[in-house]
Amino acid sequence: MFQNQSNSFFFYYFFVSLFFSFVRSSAKNDSSSYAFCPKSTCNGVEISYPFWRLDNYNTSAPQYCGYPGFGINCSENQPLPIIYLPSDAFYVKSIDYKSYSLALVDADVFNVKCPRARHNLTLEKLPLKFSDSALKLTFYFNCTKNPGDALPAECLKSGTYFYVGEIEPDDLNWFGICEEKVVTTVTKRRSFQNNDWIEGFGAAMGEGFVLDWRSASECGQCEKSEGRCGYNNSTHNLLCYCKDGTVKFKHCKGTPKTLAIYLSSY
Ligand SMILES: *[C@@H]1O[C@H](CO)[C@@H](O)[C@H](O)[C@H]1NC(C)=O
Ligand SMILES: *[C@@H]1O[C@H](CO)[C@@H](O)[C@H](O)[C@H]1NC(C)=O
Ligand SMILES: *[C@@H]1O[C@H](CO)[C@@H](O)[C@H](O)[C@H]1NC(C)=O
Ligand SMILES: *[C@@H]1O[C@H](CO)[C@@H](O)[C@H](O)[C@H]1NC(C)=O
Ligand SMILES: *[C@@H]1O[C@H](CO)[C@@H](O)[C@H](O)[C@H]1NC(C)=O
Ligand SMILES: *[C@@H]1O[C@H](CO)[C@@H](O)[C@H](O)[C@H]1NC(C)=O
Ligand SMILES: *[C@@H]1O[C@H](CO)[C@@H](O)[C@H](O)[C@H]1NC(C)=O
Repeated sequence: MFQNQSNSFFFYYFFVSLFFSFVRSSAKNDSSSYAFCPKSTCNGVEISYPFWRLDNYNTSAPQYCGYPGFGINCSENQPLPIIYLPSDAFYVKSIDYKSYSLALVDADVFNVKCPRARHNLTLEKLPLKFSDSALKLTFYFNCTKNPGDALPAECLKSGTYFYVGEIEPDDLNWFGICEEKVVTTVTKRRSFQNNDWIEGFGAAMGEGFVLDWRSASECGQCEKSEGRCGYNNSTHNLLCYCKDGTVKFKHCKGTPKTLAIYLSSY
């Protein structure tokens, strides 16, 4: 009996102090943070939520507003803003906030007449996917002969071959024939026949491709309450930047339901 009572007292104080620490931190106006994720413009490209300015990032500030991995570098002396995807740096040609899409060019191939793809593009866990207009080009380098019925990349060194789209055979055994395989992405070209790709792959790579983003699943609650999602960089806690200038946990509407129900039972 006594045991039970002290237990319930313990839980009471535990939840009450949790509640008040929650209220305190959620009501705190953090003027050092990027108040409600301001917009900026960089080489004509508008940078706003869920993207954020990596070059403005205040390294001593413990939090930022926007999706992790969606930081954009706007430094001077760059032709376009840069986003760092897991595999490499990509120039951001445009961002369309209405259709949730961004147009990118691999920084390695920008303004190179006959570009060589250097790395596979990987999106890992980012809330990004290839748009319907995306088309794969699969390159094989330093081949002793054509590994199958691939097209020759004539402007590159001999021994470079590529496939357009998904037509590469599944069982293609390129080991021992070629030294390296790289899968890159361009935009579909309806008018192109195979022979047009032989001459035109460089221009297509230089024009880049489009990715679509979707709401990061863990940010749904915050965005529904008209907040902007961010993270505490030191604790990796989800934060919600609200319209009234406050920073809360999870979402902008009051206390979490479970906690309120627990407290109302006392
Ligand atoms: C936070 O700032 C907003 C305006 O920016 C103000 O309306 C609100 O009262 C402030 N909240 C606290 C707890 O200071
Ligand atoms: C942004 O790019 C510049 C040069 O292009 C580089 O010097 C700088 O370190 C980059 N900043 C960040 C935060 O990555
Ligand atoms: C960076 O953030 C720290 C801590 O939040 C703050 O004290 C400092 O004034 C900020 N510096 C700038 C340049 O915003
Ligand atoms: C291909 O050959 C060139 C020299 O012709 C060499 O520099 C390069 O390392 C080779 N391997 C790959 C994977 O490109
Ligand atoms: C790219 O991905 C393929 C598998 O799709 C892999 O075989 C190849 O080694 C990768 N290339 C590089 C440069 O990592
Ligand atoms: C972020 O984490 C740091 C370190 O734990 C903490 O001092 C800071 O108050 C946190 N910021 C927010 C808004 O929770
Ligand atoms: C987050 O903190 C780490 C060090 O803890 C730092 O290297 C990194 O640059 C920070 N993230 C951002 C977006 O600045």
